[in-house]
Amino acid sequence: MSLSFDRHRRLRQTAAIRAMVRETHLRVDDLIYPLFVVEGSGIRREVPSMPGVYHLSLDRLTEEIDEIAKLGIRAVMVFGVPDEKDEVGSQAYCETGIVQRAIRQIKAERSEMVVIADTCLCEYTSHGHCGVVENEQVLNDPSLELLVKTAVSQAQAGADIIAPSNMMDGFVAAIRHGLDEAGFENVPIMSYAIKYASAFYGPFRDAADSAPQFGDRKTYQMDPANRLEAFREAESDIKEGADFLMVKPALAYMDIIRDIKNRFPLPLVAYNVSGEYSMVKAAAQNGWIDEKSVVMEMLTGMKRAGADLIITYFAKDVARWLAE
Ligand code: PBG
Repeated sequence: MSLSFDRHRRLRQTAAIRAMVRETHLRVDDLIYPLFVVEGSGIRREVPSMPGVYHLSLDRLTEEIDEIAKLGIRAVMVFGVPDEKDEVGSQAYCETGIVQRAIRQIKAERSEMVVIADTCLCEYTSHGHCGVVENEQVLNDPSLELLVKTAVSQAQAGADIIAPSNMMDGFVAAIRHGLDEAGFENVPIMSYAIKYASAFYGPFRDAADSAPQFGDRKTYQMDPANRLEAFREAESDIKEGADFLMVKPALAYMDIIRDIKNRFPLPLVAYNVSGEYSMVKAAAQNGWIDEKSVVMEMLTGMKRAGADLIITYFAKDVARWLAE
């Protein structure tokens, strides 16, 4: 009897052979580490729903950036958590706002660190929405004006990349125009082009104190059930001048990452969001999963799906594991 079948196991026999035929590689250059900066001093306070993630005041930021740089991570994304919030998110575009000061400090102390500014209003508005609110409606065009001011003030502070996350229509066109007018034609836009209205942002909203005070974000963020809409969003943002596209969240949207990678020739970013982080942390703390293996598998999966870059709260751990 002659059986005929393929011997796939030939290429799995040893660690060395497996390494030779490995198709996907996670590299430290792929990682972007998010930071939460707060006002005050001497603050390094762990976010309760995100173990290992801290609120940092500016005087504690330097040591954090030193650690990140020592691990070989080249890019950070800064989120500001201001003391004062108002209806129009004034602190988002204030020259002395917490994010503007954080960006200036990082660039002054370590100019080679790529500083990406998240451009949104929800951390700065009293109602917690990402735009201007009137009669409980989030208005599109009036919000654009404030987002442009925010982006320009972040670029003035020294941000290397502007990453608008607010999901107003036309935000890339408006911000590109505003940056160009202000002389920042070389500052790229990393658009949160495909951002779903996701329950996985829960822990971030604790960290950034940015939960909407009424309603939800479903009139501006995307319906998790939709795929073709992701193509429309990506097309608009490319037409408007985006330099990077992002898909967010990552884990429940691997198909979208692959689809976008196949269709559009821009660098693609996956955001491994707060809820994805907290679930792993909680299970690991209970001894139910092996954190390192699970995290490496998740992030390798995101790269295999087509992500070129990954924004992740695990960046420091991953950099350590990659160096081992
Ligand atoms: C701001 C913003 C959010 C996240 C990144 N930028 C929150 C939201 O849209 O509610 C979430 C990131 C995360 O969950 O890790 N709009």
